[in-house]
Amino acid sequence: MTVDAQILTALRSAGEECVSGADLSDRLGITRAAIWARIEELRSLGYDIEASPHQGYKLRGVPDLLHGDDLLSLVRGTRVIGRDIHVFQETSSTNDVVERLARDGVAQGAVVFAETQTRGRGRLGRKWVSPPGKGLWFSVLLRPELRPQEATQLTIIAATALARALRTYDLAPSIKWPNDILIGNRKLAGVLTELAAEIDRIRYVILGIGVNVNSTHSDFPPDVRGIATSLRLETGSPVRRAELAATILRELDFDYDRLCRGGFASIADEWAQQCTTLGQRVSIRVGERTVHGYAEALDDSGALLLRTAHGHLERIVGGDVTLEKR
Ligand code: BTN
Repeated sequence: MTVDAQILTALRSAGEECVSGADLSDRLGITRAAIWARIEELRSLGYDIEASPHQGYKLRGVPDLLHGDDLLSLVRGTRVIGRDIHVFQETSSTNDVVERLARDGVAQGAVVFAETQTRGRGRLGRKWVSPPGKGLWFSVLLRPELRPQEATQLTIIAATALARALRTYDLAPSIKWPNDILIGNRKLAGVLTELAAEIDRIRYVILGIGVNVNSTHSDFPPDVRGIATSLRLETGSPVRRAELAATILRELDFDYDRLCRGGFASIADEWAQQCTTLGQRVSIRVGERTVHGYAEALDDSGALLLRTAHGHLERIVGGDVTLEKR
């Protein structure tokens, strides 16, 4: 952990107590003057750190910004995801940044956040609007030992972890296959899974996650205003993005660990309990083709099993689902 992350961790764990400069200096192995310089830097970013001459430092408030060290301090203790966190003020798409990291051989678990994306993208070539400071726009690098046809499992674990993280905000999210997180009928978050693979082995996967956090109606473009929502709109109050980000990364780490230990079936059960697509008559656009049928179950690889009118079971790995009217 960096010095700033260690300072923030120490201040957070002290709660209402002060942490003395001498104590921090001993723990971090740097001078008290160096600690003071880091505290001043954190203050300039908006961290409200009280300094009392004889008692030390106390964290009184944190700004709603994404700061790599602060996120590391909040996330600490995960096995894989979030061991390395980068924050960009602006980037084209965090998936692009992670792709470059992946090609450079960076280890799995690296996470890239951006305050805003100029070319954020969604599934099926759609645009993903990412206004500054209004949401969580981030991507995670994974190197799972899976076959390419099992990549949907990662989308399923991302949706399950996201839904669990959102429940801590007293929301009742549902999942629309494969990866839309809805509150009521409005979309709150989505996952874009991109991968590089050989015929029988995944080289790396980029899980791109977008969560509308503090967006208001006017932050959404007119074409999605009627079908999108945010945590702020649903809960009625602004949400601190760093804490939500840390909760999501911890939940994702938990599920990724379960998956790597062969526990996909139990994650799929949890996913299925929240999925509004299963048990419904649906039409699914897959490229140029639209298939109709009854969404019966997920298979072991995470694909959707669709019972068509002829009674065949079709295995669908991606597409755009619409519920059919009865
Ligand atoms: C979807 O529901 O269509 C998926 C949306 C995924 C958006 C996220 S935001 C972070 C990452 N970077 C991107 O360009 N897209 C994903």
